[in-house]
Amino acid sequence: MTSGVKSLARTTVKDALQSESIGKKVRLGGWVRTRRDSKGGFSFIELNDGSCFASLQVVAPNTLANYENEVLKAGIGSSVEIIGEVVESPGKGQATEVKAESVRVLGFADPGDYPLQKKGTSFEFLRTIAHLRPRTNTFGAVARVRNEICRSIHNFFQSRGFVYVHTPIITASDCEGAGQMFRVTCLDMMNPPLKDGEIDFEEDFFGKATNLTVSGQLEAEIYATALTNVYTFGPTFRAENSNTSRHLSEFWMIEPEMAFCDLEGNMAVAEDFLKTIFSDVLTNCPQDMDFFNQRIDKTVIETLRHIVDSEFVRLPYTDAIDILLKSGKDFEFKVEWGIDMQSEHERYLAEEKFKKPVIVYDYPKDIKAFYMRLNEDGKTVRAMDVLVPKVGEIIGGSQREERLDVLRQRMIDCDLDPEEYWWYLDLRKYGTVEHAGFGLGLERTVQFITGMGNIRDVIPFPRAPKSADF
Ligand code: 4AD
Ligand code: MG
Repeated sequence: MTSGVKSLARTTVKDALQSESIGKKVRLGGWVRTRRDSKGGFSFIELNDGSCFASLQVVAPNTLANYENEVLKAGIGSSVEIIGEVVESPGKGQATEVKAESVRVLGFADPGDYPLQKKGTSFEFLRTIAHLRPRTNTFGAVARVRNEICRSIHNFFQSRGFVYVHTPIITASDCEGAGQMFRVTCLDMMNPPLKDGEIDFEEDFFGKATNLTVSGQLEAEIYATALTNVYTFGPTFRAENSNTSRHLSEFWMIEPEMAFCDLEGNMAVAEDFLKTIFSDVLTNCPQDMDFFNQRIDKTVIETLRHIVDSEFVRLPYTDAIDILLKSGKDFEFKVEWGIDMQSEHERYLAEEKFKKPVIVYDYPKDIKAFYMRLNEDGKTVRAMDVLVPKVGEIIGGSQREERLDVLRQRMIDCDLDPEEYWWYLDLRKYGTVEHAGFGLGLERTVQFITGMGNIRDVIPFPRAPKSADF
């Protein structure tokens, strides 16, 4: 290798595939997807580096010094560095290919042993090799779309002046009041300190019982009542034993919180937000989305386009129950006013009845968290859930209870000790304002956009009951 070649900056497969690169000398690194050896004295290597969906065809002539003992042994999964010239491709479906001047094998992968062979492997099997699955078409595409969603989310809020706030992961409060939290402790489990027959958490690391957070909302409210518009974007944890295709024990949630905002304003932001994400992914990930549309769910692109161009339905909970009762459907879970809607009910509304996102609002207070604003009827709260086809609930949010006395009473009714939430009550005591916010589940968003059936396949390393590998 000459020193001139060594100093050649590395480029990506994505760039090398552009016709503007024709005539350029490039240096590429990546992994072999396939290699085919022709009788005409060439090998064709499909090189993938994850920079885009497509692989790049590299033509390696048998005149290369290491052709016999290296190039011919570089099979699927091997890592290689290629130096060569980008030329116009005579083949269909690609604008360019690279004529290799050098092929350096960085690491061989034994073809007899490599777990990812060319033929499609099941998602269940790929979950057992989560360290290698990002090298497949599907998981590469999921990673890039997930990344684009995150970029779009930050862009959406940053361009509207929202301040990104980091809320704690370890917390002593239970935001959703459901008690399904993972305990964080340094106590000796074989020999915990006891006081009056119970574990004495005063002896624990933080001097009190702490858990992994289920939501950053309560802390986001603190910042919204000072900075007006804020959002959090972080990991959240739920210890519910739900083994479904829509639940994870560790997932990422985006939670905007807005002062001087009511439920209507909250709904408008949620709708605008989802439409922006969908349209950004359609614009910026066309190849990945074509793949999902062809191989995973033939309706994803059409569905997303349709949603971007249409209005979300706004439906009071009471009307939603009426619709379910009159649907003539034989639901597994009985429908009556007061129920917490099951996924089958949510999907009926979004998928069959309206065929687009539905925002259900004004839920019964008994099935919702303590912090939601109580309506005049005394029975319902200013809650909203955004339901989408196939996935069901993708967003949960509400206008918050800003009246000190009402909030304190709601806490007592929900068996929460107002003393423990003194700081949360202070926000109502000192300069309280109308405010609202919501939480978007990142993985459910990725699922909805890609059409991937199981939520465990849209997060790199899923955590679910009895599963925390890698
Ligand atoms: O409806 P949730 O529980 O709302 C909250 O946590 C509020 N504190 C949010 C707020 O108002 N700031 O959760 C919000 C969203 C759900 O709609 C769903 O998309 C997702 O988080 N989610 C889950 N995603 C994956 N696995 C789970 N176990 C999830 N639980 C909730
Ligand atoms: Mg919810």
